[in-house]
Amino acid sequence: MSVDLPFHKSWLGEEEHREVEDTLNSGWLTTGPKTQKFEELFKEYIGCKHAIALNSCTAGLNLALTVQNFADGDEVITSPMTFPATANVILLQRLKPVFADIEPGTLTIDPRKIEEKITPRTRAIIPVHFAGHPCDMTPIQELADRHKLLIIEDAAHALETKYKGKKIGNLGNATAFSFYANKNITTGEGGMLVTNDDALAETFRVMRLQGISRDAWKRYGKSGFSHWEQTLAGHKCNMPDLNASIGLHQIKKVEQFMTLRKKYVAMYDHAFAEVPEIETPVVKDYATHAHHIYVIALNLDRLTIDRDGFLDAIQSAGIGVALHYIALHLQPYYVKNFNTKPQDFPVASNYSERVISLPLYPKMSPEDVERVIGTVKDLIKKFRK
Ligand SMILES: Cc1ncc(COP(=O)(O)O)c(C=O)c1O
Repeated sequence: MSVDLPFHKSWLGEEEHREVEDTLNSGWLTTGPKTQKFEELFKEYIGCKHAIALNSCTAGLNLALTVQNFADGDEVITSPMTFPATANVILLQRLKPVFADIEPGTLTIDPRKIEEKITPRTRAIIPVHFAGHPCDMTPIQELADRHKLLIIEDAAHALETKYKGKKIGNLGNATAFSFYANKNITTGEGGMLVTNDDALAETFRVMRLQGISRDAWKRYGKSGFSHWEQTLAGHKCNMPDLNASIGLHQIKKVEQFMTLRKKYVAMYDHAFAEVPEIETPVVKDYATHAHHIYVIALNLDRLTIDRDGFLDAIQSAGIGVALHYIALHLQPYYVKNFNTKPQDFPVASNYSERVISLPLYPKMSPEDVERVIGTVKDLIKKFRK
């Protein structure tokens, strides 16, 4: 059976269509007034000082590290329970990714495990707010202060997330968000790097466009001709107006989308609460969860099927599923180059064998959610020991 209830579908309205058309008709497609407007709206939403629009979250993490000029082999601590992007940016700058295991339940990095991994070469921590649940930031901030480490947050999942009532984007030195197609809001591809540090923000702006001091649209704007200057060796990762046209309407709908996802999470939580074969996501009392993805973990010792078999079975019922994640230390790249073993990060290894992400997005109907619940419960019954 082909999948008729996909894992994700973006919600794009008339406004996004009209804005993209307006941009096409304007004749100005790359970074310009629409990107600037999107940055303003985003800044307002996060409550931070600076927002720099990019073509991905990966580019944001990359810029945040690049501008530091760390030495080859310097160490950056992060979670193994993440998408390759988080650690790729470390590797590609000749830095060393050092993993610290995760906490059970939230699957976010465990601050006590971070402390064990700090060495004289540690320079930064990249906490990943897994699924939209915040990492426990107070002990992470204390470690960073004590050891003079930078905090660069991977907030790809965490647009609406708060920690102790404070919005993510205001707790570290820099924070990168994602607007990839399946994220809580999308620009197709895109990202935003935010910071409250004026000097860092200026460097990010210059570094996102070849290290030159002015964006193209300002050079040719109404204020008269002004020369641009190259002051740094920069990257090329600016967000085009074409993508920002979508983002500046998506950001206005962020809470509306969130309300629907929250309702569906409550349906899932309620339905699975009394199913001992399923571990539902934990929300700590310090957390305002963004509910980017709904990740359950199977209690495999109670089932006659493994996780991949379960994924297959859901998909065979026409429902799209995903897997966040098989931890990075289990990926062939790390096994080959870093000789990593499952027992190095036992919590992440354990969840890597058990997690399943169920569909969760505002385009779903409550009937769709009921269908997922029914399918999962039927399969549990079928494969119960
Ligand atoms: C945890 C995490 N970090 C980083 C990224 C990279 O985001 P982007 O595709 O916008 O570069 C993703 C993308 O899915 C992600 O899930």
